[in-house]
Amino acid sequence: MYRELFLQAQAVREYAYAPYSNFKVGAALLTKEGVMYTGVNIENSSYPVGLCAERAAFASAISQGEKEFQAIAICGDTEECWPCGMCRQFMYEFAPDLTVVTGSDPDHLEIMDLSELLPNGFKLEK
Ligand code: THU
Repeated sequence: MYRELFLQAQAVREYAYAPYSNFKVGAALLTKEGVMYTGVNIENSSYPVGLCAERAAFASAISQGEKEFQAIAICGDTEECWPCGMCRQFMYEFAPDLTVVTGSDPDHLEIMDLSELLPNGFKLEK
């Protein structure tokens, strides 16, 4: 299953818009019901405006009404690509129990829980 998810992330990676860093990233997000949503990084002439692939995938899924997520796979250049700090906090809002999958290729996956990548993430009590 994680292999399939990573393969999807790898497939969409070509759609990334990364003319400034030349570092293309693809992400594939799996809902608890088994639906997959993808995202890519989208850079901008004004550099800080750029969006990471992980947040693009979440934005797509949430825009379709999804609320429960089980795993995200991330495919960067040739090495594993762990989510940046901003994305860890972004994902924690919606899926504190998320599984994060990355790797250099589908046969060399590395898997960690978001709770390990972001211990004590911030959440406002509502
Ligand atoms: N990037 C992602 O999309 N996801 C990550 O996990 C790491 C970094 C993007 C942001 C920027 O467009 C490029 O990779 C180089 O930092």
